[in-house]
Amino acid sequence: MSISRRAFVVRCAALACVPAATARVLAAAPPASRRMTVYKDAGCGCCKAWIAHLERAGFTVTSRDVPDINEIKQSLGVPDAMASCHTGVIGSVLIEGHVPADVIAKFVDQQADPTQRVAKWKGLAVPGMPQGSPGMEGPNPQRYDVLSFGAGGATAVYATRMGTRA
Ligand code: CU
Ligand code: CU
Repeated sequence: MSISRRAFVVRCAALACVPAATARVLAAAPPASRRMTVYKDAGCGCCKAWIAHLERAGFTVTSRDVPDINEIKQSLGVPDAMASCHTGVIGSVLIEGHVPADVIAKFVDQQADPTQRVAKWKGLAVPGMPQGSPGMEGPNPQRYDVLSFGAGGATAVYATRMGTRA
């Protein structure tokens, strides 16, 4: 009895239990680079659809309904020309509007890497609400740009995408 119990404990510690516990810890804490807080209006349907797109791509999203979305944009420093329906925050990175999840992932990973980081960029934006962008899929998809933006009105085209119907 005591021998078989000891054998179980040894095997457990060596193989099964330690990896299982590690996996549980990792699952419970997604990396900071994939955790976003999204500020939006409570009645915004396309915002919800965009959040669902992010979650399907592996992001963990905390959604915050605010009475005045423009006030949040001003306090976070989103330039007026970049404005869309919702504003996301990942660490110090701002994500404005219907930006595709894979473009966000590329940008935040780039900005976290000291050898690739472009210090002047504060975030990404898809200004307005182009038809066919994630959360805005529909019958008349448009080509649209994802812009990187910084202080003083600096912008650059970071990616260009064709919208999708669904
Ligand atoms: Cu929208
Ligand atoms: Cu939105």
